[in-house]
Amino acid sequence: MSERGAGFVPGLEGVVAAETRLSHVDGAAGELTVAGFPVEELANRATFEEVVYLLWHDALPDAGQLADLREALARRRALPRATLDLLRAAASEGTPPMDALRMAAGTASLRAGDASADGDAAYEEALAVVACLPTIVAAYRLLLDGEEPVDPDPELGHAANYLYMLGGGVPGDGSVRALEAYLATVADHGLNASTFAARVIVSTGSDLVSAVVGALGALKGPLHGGAPGPALDVVFEIGEARRAEPVLREKLGRGERLMGFGHRVYKVRDPRADVLATAAELLYATDGDAALYGLALEVEKTAVALLEEHKPGRNLQTNVEFYTALLLHGLGLPTELFTPTFAVGRVAGWTAHCFEQTERGRLIRPQSEYVGERDRRWLPIEER
Ligand code: ACO
Repeated sequence: MSERGAGFVPGLEGVVAAETRLSHVDGAAGELTVAGFPVEELANRATFEEVVYLLWHDALPDAGQLADLREALARRRALPRATLDLLRAAASEGTPPMDALRMAAGTASLRAGDASADGDAAYEEALAVVACLPTIVAAYRLLLDGEEPVDPDPELGHAANYLYMLGGGVPGDGSVRALEAYLATVADHGLNASTFAARVIVSTGSDLVSAVVGALGALKGPLHGGAPGPALDVVFEIGEARRAEPVLREKLGRGERLMGFGHRVYKVRDPRADVLATAAELLYATDGDAALYGLALEVEKTAVALLEEHKPGRNLQTNVEFYTALLLHGLGLPTELFTPTFAVGRVAGWTAHCFEQTERGRLIRPQSEYVGERDRRWLPIEER
């Protein structure tokens, strides 16, 4: 059957492929709304558990509901032996963290097999996968370093546990607040590639763990989960404020893109950059290297000015990656954990989109435009 006539839109740009109440990205105004809240309102106040509850239930939890969710996640945080064995095998091969995370996330199905009290398999899968991603990332990091994983502490919340399991002891309030702000800021962002991938998978009637594994695969790509690492590398390369202009000018002169600037959707400053800049400022003022933060501000100012010179009127502004890099570095995370940590936050959105897709959605099955040959005739092998 011919699939012609649908009108091909490369990259599906401008195509509306879902209705959602979860988040809205206004690229022209530079606004991000998450379940009705401006991201600025949410990020500076919410804990990760509150964001998860909000996305799953479209309302903030009361104290009892929040306590229940915290407890439900705490019970599912420790990894089964099979997951740890898999991580040990991956570490012995030096597998990159995103690949190890993708493989180990699939083992959440082992947990999700224990039906929840109300028998809701998708909800149980969501709890299992949200709870275990930070444990996997932290355990794998330690295994790569030849150390033993640190067991989660049931008394600590989700963000605090992540830092704790990375081996730094019980984290200070400033670090926990900074990580909460990061996780809330990246929890959901419209119909981005990994979220779309998750929705496509559950739209077939497949399970939620499969959807998260697929989403992790999509997030890993450099055009999406990105590389906040390179943005930080540039700040380190510059080293001191007076070198910002010559170094950045030289990069632009060589035709390089300045990492951490520009965005496909936002044509003004990415609102997440503001939120994370504030969080980073607080973190660096208390726990961090204030000189590095000051240098990053100089680099940002210089880069924006040079980009205006380089591409006048394009308004190339700071994107989320620039301050992500600074914030996660300030929390002591190595660059190879930046994308896995993005997944630790974004899984809140992935799971919520899976619920939404299952409730309201339809099998996602677009069309393609056939541009191949027609009416070929079979040639026996000796005649080819
Ligand atoms: N440095 C130098 N030049 C740039 C930059 C940059 N950071 N960003 C865009 N430009 C240039 C483009 O080359 C283009 O030039 P041209 O018209 O001569 O071809 C012009 O500015 C306009 O580019 P856009 O169309 O606005 O950019 P596009 O939508 O194609 O790309 C992207 C967006 C990929 C984010 C780009 O800005 C970029 O490569 N930035 C650097 C990498 C980066 O920070 N990535 C993380 C993005 S945040 C996220 O995805 C979570």
